[in-house]
Amino acid sequence: MKTDQEATSDSRQIPAYDRVDVSVLIIGAGAAGARTAIELADRGVDDVLVLGKRGHGDAHTTWARGGINGALGTHDPEDNWAIHAADTINEGHFVNDPEKVETVTKQMPDRLRELDEWGMAFSRTDDGEIDQRYFGAQSFRRTAFAGDHTGESMLNTLVAKAQELNIPYRENVMITKILSDGTRAYGAVGFDMDTGEFVLFNAGCVVLAAGGYAAIYNRHTSRDDENNGDGPALAYDAGATLMDMEFVQFHPTGMAVDESDPDWEPWSGRLVTEAVRGEGGRLYNTNGERFMKRYSPDQMELDARDVVARAIAKEISEGRGTENGGVYLDISHRDAEFIAERLPRMYDRFLELGVDMAAEPVEVAPTAHYGMGGVRVDAYGESDISGLFAIGETMAGVHGANRLGGNSLAETVAYGVVAGERIADRIDGPGGLPEEIINSVFEPHVADLAATAGRSGTYDVDSVLAELRELMWNHAGILRTEESIQAGLDQLDTLREKAADIRIGDGTDESFELAIDLGFMLTAAESVLSGALERTESRGAHYRSDYPDVDDDWQRNICFERADIGRMRLSTASVAPPSKAVQSALDSGYELDYHQLE
Ligand code: FUM
Repeated sequence: MKTDQEATSDSRQIPAYDRVDVSVLIIGAGAAGARTAIELADRGVDDVLVLGKRGHGDAHTTWARGGINGALGTHDPEDNWAIHAADTINEGHFVNDPEKVETVTKQMPDRLRELDEWGMAFSRTDDGEIDQRYFGAQSFRRTAFAGDHTGESMLNTLVAKAQELNIPYRENVMITKILSDGTRAYGAVGFDMDTGEFVLFNAGCVVLAAGGYAAIYNRHTSRDDENNGDGPALAYDAGATLMDMEFVQFHPTGMAVDESDPDWEPWSGRLVTEAVRGEGGRLYNTNGERFMKRYSPDQMELDARDVVARAIAKEISEGRGTENGGVYLDISHRDAEFIAERLPRMYDRFLELGVDMAAEPVEVAPTAHYGMGGVRVDAYGESDISGLFAIGETMAGVHGANRLGGNSLAETVAYGVVAGERIADRIDGPGGLPEEIINSVFEPHVADLAATAGRSGTYDVDSVLAELRELMWNHAGILRTEESIQAGLDQLDTLREKAADIRIGDGTDESFELAIDLGFMLTAAESVLSGALERTESRGAHYRSDYPDVDDDWQRNICFERADIGRMRLSTASVAPPSKAVQSALDSGYELDYHQLE
């Protein structure tokens, strides 16, 4: 890697910037980015740079709690990758890309063993095997876990491995643009969030491992400055196609809190892991009724997330919810020792807030958790833009209309390996960044950004962000209708006008970062709303009250491309059939038997 301190200036008032040349630039320092870098290093590609918006070892991965799927068969030897794939496709409502599902499910037993070898603190059975728990809508106990801090433990393991391999990381950098001519990627533009300095990254290959877009909703499980759609929006801006953006997962159990209480308020919407239900947790309404018996008598609390989230939302909207807008999740029939061992972070968090899960229930309500959509990529994670890869939550295809809990961590490591292998096969240096791209893409972009720093304006960025998040919750939430989605799209136009008139501080001020996030969020929001309007059926997490049934003609993916003028151009693409092995597992009709848990 070479760093050039050269500063440039001309009539367009181009700010001073650093230049970094590197063979592979990985945007995102979570599990997907780390695993890609490890694969590249293993294959002899060491001219790699991993960029994170936060400190090294801190990424959204740390917030993934309950587990990671792989058909190890620790408790259920009948399980295998094909049944894992069949469960994934069944719950994705048959719009997943079967090839990508196979890529993940076939690899996962090896990926889990590898993480184990690298020191991940998996919870174990009495025999010392990697333990596996029940997770929603999975036919067998397939979710391996480290207590309820699986993502944190996994990221620590990957970061330690990356450090052992001397993989270069750079912290606190925000990427604002991919350098592309619409057919090929040449690198990216970013700024150092500590100094405000711009950086031109010239790269032979760019990997977007930058997360998803669930934080465009006002109740979400992510932190406010992550999962704002930067991955998909950066790719879209570079000319890549997005897919399935209308499919947003609402996790059934986010914390429902008294928002006027300063101790509780920061926790509103944060994840109460599915592992609580996987370990036997039960849902009750305020009448004391275990209401899932009415919605899903066979799978109860462990039915798919979309089913449980809609059931909870219905209970609340029909007046059987708590004052804080939730229902009760109760695991107090398990003893304190069991809860502290299997769910230590949840147990401690609630204890600190004065609630003992071993003695009383906690309050929960649905919260935006995951975007199933993202960048359309080929079997190796490469987008339509040559040299631009998208993996992990940034890519689309694995989860279809609804993701199985535990499959997101699985996808990060599986696609990290696939993309790393593919890139290693063909990379031969940073590549030549054409002068034309510097002149026509990089310089105007940094000149525009520099001109916005310190800008005065009518609106405060935080209030416009809050309006956007509320709009998305109200108009593209758990239940959708044409009228409401259309109203959301109309309001989005007004928000765009406000976004162009916000006050922004200098390059080290948080408002500068948030203003850029707002741009990404507007792109993600437009795609979610447009896709939700287009899809005139209900499928998985996309529920249209005006079209409540699945429509077989809609067993298609919606794709979003940049039109030359105006809004996004939407088209649809057909879905490939599953392989014989997976079809046969689908035909066998495996499904979770909840009653084994009782
Ligand atoms: O509930 C959870 O622990 C979330 C896991 C996931 O989304 O994969």
